[in-house]
Amino acid sequence: MKQQLEQLRAAALAAIAQAGGMEDLENARVRFLGKKGELTAVLRQMGKLSPDERPAMGQLANEVRAVMEKAIDEARIELEAAALERKLKNEAVDVTVPGEKVTLGHKHPMYIALDEIKDIFVGMGFTVLDGPEVELAELNFDRLNAGEGHPSRDWSDTFYFKEDSSVMLRSQTSPMQVRAMDTLPLPIRMIAPGRVYRKDEVDATHSPMFHQVEGMVIDKNVTMADLKGTLNAVVEQLYGKGTQTRFRPHHFPFTEPSCEMDVQCHKCGGKGCPTCKGEGWIELLGAGMIHPHVLEMAGIDPNVWSGWAFGFGLERTAMRRFKIDDLRLIFENDVRFLEQF
Ligand code: DAH
Repeated sequence: MKQQLEQLRAAALAAIAQAGGMEDLENARVRFLGKKGELTAVLRQMGKLSPDERPAMGQLANEVRAVMEKAIDEARIELEAAALERKLKNEAVDVTVPGEKVTLGHKHPMYIALDEIKDIFVGMGFTVLDGPEVELAELNFDRLNAGEGHPSRDWSDTFYFKEDSSVMLRSQTSPMQVRAMDTLPLPIRMIAPGRVYRKDEVDATHSPMFHQVEGMVIDKNVTMADLKGTLNAVVEQLYGKGTQTRFRPHHFPFTEPSCEMDVQCHKCGGKGCPTCKGEGWIELLGAGMIHPHVLEMAGIDPNVWSGWAFGFGLERTAMRRFKIDDLRLIFENDVRFLEQF
């Protein structure tokens, strides 16, 4: 029996030493020390021993058990330490490695210009409105005095959704005037920037989708002088103090009288150059006093209220602001271009 116990001790120590992980170690413990383990099996044979032999064997068996338990405890501590070491190594962060550069996007020059424009108008008490790009022809045309047969309603100019031409991609932001009159309490001061759509081929100055900024004021005793004063103030803030403007008579169905406003060419100061095509002036926007019939159609009494409105192309304004010479650059979104602003 003594020999059996000593063999068992050697076998157990070997198995424990070989354990590569917690699972191996537990298997070894069950195999030697478990209830059905090998040591228990040997101890069961104690009864067969003579009373003289028993105490010595009992002592030896206890020693063997103690050695095994100690070896298992030590192996467990070692395995745990090794596992922790591995984990720390795997998760180690080298704080001296240079960080990866995060590439931030860049604000688009057109939106830089739009934010400036919004700031200027908000500072004068205007509200900024947003409206649908899919619009009723009724609001895009009829309610703006452009009835059946008006040339701008032609299928060759407009993206319609329905055979009966009742729903369309808005061709101007002017229907926002109607939406504002229908929903806001008077007096109104608003601008409404947004996308508009026309059947134009893409070239250096045209795109089937572009942006406009609509503006409108309705109040009592509002005159053309307020329109000119306001727009002059805006132009001076956008293009610098002393920038000259010029108002020319024009025609729009929804304003009467109507005008176009030009700014003096920033390149040549009015002498005439390729940028202004020799004119000295660059056309900036359309504007006018809101037609009394347009007010009437919105249920507003033109004998009590008057107003003015304007609309301009945002791309062209940004192009002039940043001296960009091709409209396509605005839409290509090449970061090498965008990063310059
Ligand atoms: N909607 C016009 C256009 O697309 C621009 C315009 C002209 C807007 C006169 C106005 C205005 O509000 O009063 O050409």
